[in-house]
Amino acid sequence: VRTAVVIPAAGRGVRLGPGAPKALRALNGTPMLIHAVRAMAASRAVSLVVVVAPPDGAAEVKSLLDAHALPERTDFLVVPGGEERQDSVKLGLDALPPDYDIVLVHDAARPLVPVDTVDAVIEAVREGATAVVPALPLADTVKEVEPATVPGDPEPVVATPERARLRAVQTPQGFDRATLIRAHETVTGNVTDDASMIEQLGETVVVVPGHEEAFKVTRPLDLVLAEAVLARRRL
Ligand code: CTP
Ligand code: MG
Repeated sequence: VRTAVVIPAAGRGVRLGPGAPKALRALNGTPMLIHAVRAMAASRAVSLVVVVAPPDGAAEVKSLLDAHALPERTDFLVVPGGEERQDSVKLGLDALPPDYDIVLVHDAARPLVPVDTVDAVIEAVREGATAVVPALPLADTVKEVEPATVPGDPEPVVATPERARLRAVQTPQGFDRATLIRAHETVTGNVTDDASMIEQLGETVVVVPGHEEAFKVTRPLDLVLAEAVLARRRL
């Protein structure tokens, strides 16, 4: 069974602040996207990586991939992305050749995920799971609030879900290809990950252990952490 990875990398990175699209920003001298591509290609099970580039940046991403050493056993495709993350993932799925039965979706914004996590996700799909997400227990207690109608007003707390039952989910998320494509063709509305689309189909999603280093680079402080992790790895 062959495995492909779709890497949505088309976001602006608004929360990171002004600058190049997030995936193209450097971490210790190498673009975040290249770290993410290497993290996926590090798995011997991955034979194709589809990078979903910023809409006007496909040519730049192609030359970046050419300029960096990547494993020979892996094929690469680059397609332009869309308005929302979901649109970008869909455009990546549309570009998949037929002979891949397992598809992983991995945020370019999680450049440091260890290969063991990637392999654990693939293994769980190979063993029969329809959808697999890496996840970690939460450190913070989480409150549901009634969002303020006037920005800045105090927000009343509605509920406190039991923390021990909550998980923070990461990527790569792994899928049976046909089910993921069905989800992207039928589920509408705003979602923040691919697994939730599978849930909306009524299919089962399972969790495997995530990893601290699979954190998402979202705000400026995350860049500091990512560069420190790379320095510790001497990359
Ligand atoms: N993404 C994408 N296409 C979009 C929006 C997001 O491919 N239209 C990708 C991002 O490039 C990122 C991943 O989805 O790798 C997760 O999204 P997020 O961390 O929210 O990145 P951005 O949307 O770029 O950041 P922000 O929300 O702060 O603008
Ligand atoms: Mg976003």
